[in-house]
Amino acid sequence: SAATDYQAEDALISQGAVATNHTGYSGSGFVDYTNVKGSYVEFTADAAAAGPASLTLRYANGTSTDRPMDLSVNGTVVASAVSFPATADWNTWASRTVNVTLKAGSNKIRATATTAAGGPNLDRVSLGTPSDTQAPTR
Ligand code: GCU
Repeated sequence: SAATDYQAEDALISQGAVATNHTGYSGSGFVDYTNVKGSYVEFTADAAAAGPASLTLRYANGTSTDRPMDLSVNGTVVASAVSFPATADWNTWASRTVNVTLKAGSNKIRATATTAAGGPNLDRVSLGTPSDTQAPTR
């Protein structure tokens, strides 16, 4: 089945701001993380049943330096310091996918910057079934 998209500009933002100053984003904008460790975006996603899901984050990183983030589900870090490497420029978006396990009902999915540079620009996350996505990166 198709993945479900959650726009970053509609999520809970801690130390970041919705921005539109680059091209190629989906929805009405993207999140520009404040350049501090600990800045995060948290998505609330409903799952019909407990089980595995793929989590794909669409991001841009116009610097030459990785912008790693911890990914947590319902308060537990499930992937530490996931790499969000440079993209060609801030208008060029790339995707990173990790496999996660969701509970039935409401899930809190958080992407938290682990370095003082903050996170990459984040456009959206997509939740899908593991079988209908690209290969997971870790
Ligand atoms: C630039 C860019 C922003 C980006 C920021 C950063 O200011 O225009 O979109 O978020 O760099 O380094 O995080």
